Amino acid sequence: MANPLLEVIDLAASADDVQILNGLNLTVNAGEVHAIMGPNGAGKSTLSSVLMGSPVYQVTEGQIKLDGEDITLWAPDARAKAGVFLAFQHPEAIGGVSVVQFLRQAVAARKGLDELSVLEVRMDMMEWMERLKMDSAFAERHLNEGFSGGERKRNEILQMALLEPTLAILDETDSGLDIDALQIVANGVATVRQERPDLGVLVVTHYQRLLNELNPDVVHILVDGRIVASGGPELAAEVETNGYEAWQS
Ligand SMILES: Nc1ncnc2c1ncn2[C@@H]1O[C@H](COP(=O)(O)OP(=O)(O)O)[C@@H](O)[C@H]1O
Ligand SMILES: [Mg+2]
Repeated sequence: MANPLLEVIDLAASADDVQILNGLNLTVNAGEVHAIMGPNGAGKSTLSSVLMGSPVYQVTEGQIKLDGEDITLWAPDARAKAGVFLAFQHPEAIGGVSVVQFLRQAVAARKGLDELSVLEVRMDMMEWMERLKMDSAFAERHLNEGFSGGERKRNEILQMALLEPTLAILDETDSGLDIDALQIVANGVATVRQERPDLGVLVVTHYQRLLNELNPDVVHILVDGRIVASGGPELAAEVETNGYEAWQS
């Protein structure tokens, strides 16, 4: 039997001696879309950061496996190279770097190349921008300078498309997404999955609306640093009506 794409086993993690994740278990198979919901402060963004290998957090127990390989102690760039992608919520504005220049660097790093021709990246990028119904002028925009919420989302989806991750983590918790931006994320994920059906997606969100559009295979509830319930879309509906009270101690 094939290994799961992502297997998180009894994961505990802390920052500054504060325990945040407390025995978290999660399995995502190739081609599946999983949503993680949970109250503010539950540890959702911490989980995203820990999966990417952020040095801010210390893993104190447990394991993270990618396609059967233990990556718990891997550096972030090694994980990116292995196919883990994290779309950041609030990337710093990088002055003077255009979308296409940034992508050229990121794709080269993912593929383990020193350099990649601008032409090659541009061709791929134009193709994806057409598929994703983005204006071609977007390629020349400077990264995050005056990006609207929707443009930030376009940039993230474009990165996800071009970097060809095996596992994409999208943390959409508190980025103040309007309906347009939600649609960009949902349509973008659907479009990329059409091309790359084995992509596993882990979406962190508060928004029922995004889940309606995304149609996740599995919904998880994260409370106090662990997954306390997993199920189908009915779980998201339950959260919408009753909040997280039923799962909080
Ligand atoms: N770098 C950090 N240092 C100390 N505490 C942190 C750090 N990051 C997160 N926390 C704490 O961990 C808890 C979970 O945070 P977070 O993962 O951002 O929650 P969520 O994304 O579910 O709202 C919060 O109580 C938060 O204050
Ligand atoms: Mg968060």
